[in-house]
Amino acid sequence: MRILITGGAGFIASHIAEAYIAAGHEVLIVDNFWSHGGARREHVPPQARLVELDIRDAALAHVFTAFQPEIISHHAAQHSVAIGSRDPEFDANVNVLGLLNVLNQAVRVGVKKCIFASSGATFGEPDQLPMNEATPQRPASPYGITKMVTEHYLRFYRQEHGLDFTALRYGNVYGPRQDPNGEAGVISIFIGKFLAQQGVRIDSDGEQTRDYIYVGDVAQANIAALTRGGGGCYVIGTGIRTSVNEIYRALVEVTGFPAPVTHAPKRAGDVRAAQFDASLAQSELQWQPQTDLLSGMRATVAYFRGLLAQ
Ligand SMILES: NC(=O)c1ccc[n+]([C@@H]2O[C@H](COP(=O)([O-])OP(=O)(O)OC[C@H]3O[C@@H](n4cnc5c(N)ncnc54)[C@H](O)[C@@H]3O)[C@@H](O)[C@H]2O)c1
Repeated sequence: MRILITGGAGFIASHIAEAYIAAGHEVLIVDNFWSHGGARREHVPPQARLVELDIRDAALAHVFTAFQPEIISHHAAQHSVAIGSRDPEFDANVNVLGLLNVLNQAVRVGVKKCIFASSGATFGEPDQLPMNEATPQRPASPYGITKMVTEHYLRFYRQEHGLDFTALRYGNVYGPRQDPNGEAGVISIFIGKFLAQQGVRIDSDGEQTRDYIYVGDVAQANIAALTRGGGGCYVIGTGIRTSVNEIYRALVEVTGFPAPVTHAPKRAGDVRAAQFDASLAQSELQWQPQTDLLSGMRATVAYFRGLLAQ
């Protein structure tokens, strides 16, 4: 199939591009190399075509006309909770108006389906764990709001225009290529510090938990969504709560370096715990995670070690 991936030069979607190419699909990536995002030229698989363009640009029409995609994988986003909270207008501009430009072009050229990178951030602070598709969505940030709104637009475009969709609400994704700078996931930030033999900062008491999902497993969920899960939203996680302290201890084991720790107060807006029950993805997408945390962290450490050796 011809698949257009927005944000495909970034962390997660470059892995999806590789998985699609390995499965025999033709891939075109649209990415504007946003300065606060994780895009790198070296992430783009050599077999993929790359168009450097903002998803909000009217010139997107030419790309759709020329490539005639059958599937859209929409991963381009303003993906920072902090930036979105400081500048909700920018967040909505990219995550809503950018989305609408993509969807309108998709309808115009007759795309069959849009697979969307939604987020656990659409839930906010849930009343109970684990979260699943029945958990009320009460996003606590502009980023979570625009991700949730996207799911509603996708439903509307399906009803109104017959453009099918699957929305995948990812937990905390980690793995090779995640940007260790900025406010990326704690795993890649910590790995950067451990390999540089520097200390790490643990906010609060370190007992706050997340559901960390390996990027290779996320790519496989995106393979499953090519043919399954039409009209559905699915949480994509492991079902396991892991604390920051557990990540710290695992990295000491994997790297052999007992990084010095400083503690900082709880960050405003940080949820205390997250955990997803992905049973629906298992039954309807026939997907389940394959990578345990230690194996995923070993692969990620090996990747960052390789970068340092270059
Ligand atoms: N990392 C996570 O844990 C996580 C969790 C849930 C959802 N997501 C979502 O998954 C997607 C990918 O996230 P990621 O962690 O790989 O981040 P990333 O920054 O590595 O990837 C996002 C890509 O989108 C591109 N982009 C941003 N604005 C653009 C624009 N206006 N036009 C064209 N391209 C643009 C960036 O250059 C970047 O390559 C995002 O939609 C994010 O919200 C990520």
